[in-house]
Amino acid sequence: MLKKPWGGRFKKKTHKVAERFSASIETDKRLYREDIEGSIAHAKMLGQVGIISQREAKSIIKGLREIQKEIENGKFPFREEFEDIHLNIEKRLIEKIGETGGKLHTARSRNDQIVLDERLYLRRETTEILGLIKGVAEEFIRLAEENIDVIIPLYTHLQAAQPVLLSHHLLAYFEMLKRDRERFIECLKRINIMPLGAGAGAGTSFPIDRRYVAELLGFPEVTRNSIDTVSDRDFIVEFISNSSILMMHLSRLSEELVIWSSKEFDFVDLGDEFTTGSSIMPQKRNPDIAELLRGKTGKVYGNLISILTVMKGLPLSYNRDLQEDKEPMFGTVDTLKSCLYVLKEMLKNIKFKPENMKRSLLNSFITATDLADYLARKGIPFRQAHEIVGRIVRYAEEKRRDLLQLSISELKMFSNLFEEDVYEFITLEGSISSRKSYGGTAKENVVKMIEEAREEIKMW
Ligand code: ARG
Repeated sequence: MLKKPWGGRFKKKTHKVAERFSASIETDKRLYREDIEGSIAHAKMLGQVGIISQREAKSIIKGLREIQKEIENGKFPFREEFEDIHLNIEKRLIEKIGETGGKLHTARSRNDQIVLDERLYLRRETTEILGLIKGVAEEFIRLAEENIDVIIPLYTHLQAAQPVLLSHHLLAYFEMLKRDRERFIECLKRINIMPLGAGAGAGTSFPIDRRYVAELLGFPEVTRNSIDTVSDRDFIVEFISNSSILMMHLSRLSEELVIWSSKEFDFVDLGDEFTTGSSIMPQKRNPDIAELLRGKTGKVYGNLISILTVMKGLPLSYNRDLQEDKEPMFGTVDTLKSCLYVLKEMLKNIKFKPENMKRSLLNSFITATDLADYLARKGIPFRQAHEIVGRIVRYAEEKRRDLLQLSISELKMFSNLFEEDVYEFITLEGSISSRKSYGGTAKENVVKMIEEAREEIKMW
């Protein structure tokens, strides 16, 4: 039986069931790279300040590098009885280089070691996620550019409300992604702090150099309170929370794509590559990818609730409950990356159907607001104008005609302020081009928004 690294004070062996229950190696072996990177920096520091000899540090570092190769070549013996990635690597190091390997853990505890691994991991993944967000945002800009003249109904309450440019609608997602990106960058500041040196939670009596370790690992700062350092996982909570918000945005987009690709709307073709057939109904083309994007949002929310609940009520400082932070963290990273990746590819394939969008705009009285605005500009209080136009809409509906098909004399039955020029304001194009207010849907505005987005994204 292999002896536990902490076996000294124990007379009996851990029960097999307890061992299996508490082991996290199956999950946290994913952190091997970070664990080794952190250990190498720690060993260098120990050698540098003379806590161990330079020769010992070198031999430890060499051993760690070999272990990394073993892992990457699938030759590493992962063993459940050594609980987690930290002890598995340490045990293997001792097997490889002898007792010197046991010096690596001087002035360190797994309590600060795990936080270091997680911070290194999330730093790398956040950077990758930022790149993926950029990729999706670029697709939105491209689609907005390519569809600059396409008109769609703006919906409120999922009822056709006002005509807008499709490009304007697409750029709404650019805005969301921009904020999502900012949130991750903000969170990265709090991830990017070096925790090693907190030891088990009280600090260490060895003359370590934490700033040197930070420098070796590229951290601009070190954590300030050893107790907080080993207790805190709020950088993970924040990461998952930001991820949840991002997923919420992707889910809303997915929902729109699901609706828009239905036969009833038929605004968009998601392409054969991103839809699937039904095993029973031959006519169907299902928007599964969009649906799954929407569905996977639930998993990420679940991860957020999971980690918040694990953390809630834990007394300071380290508690083993904290080991349960890994699945939500990894799960969120995996889901987020795969969603952003597939979404970018799906957006590359998407084809909008302007004719169908146009068709849905007819007979929807979608420029009724413009008609009311017309009267309001001529001095009628908007409330009254609204009332008048309401009656006009009812009249047109009864006559089964669109607003544009009402003659000027018919309009004059409702208000003598109507003149021939009214028609310019109630065409789709007229309505859109009148909305020049900052942020509004007038083409000149949207063209400017696209230009700004193009400029901004260069800096992402
Ligand atoms: N596997 C542990 C975790 O993920 C590492 C820290 C263990 N510390 C301890 N005192 N058992 O949290």
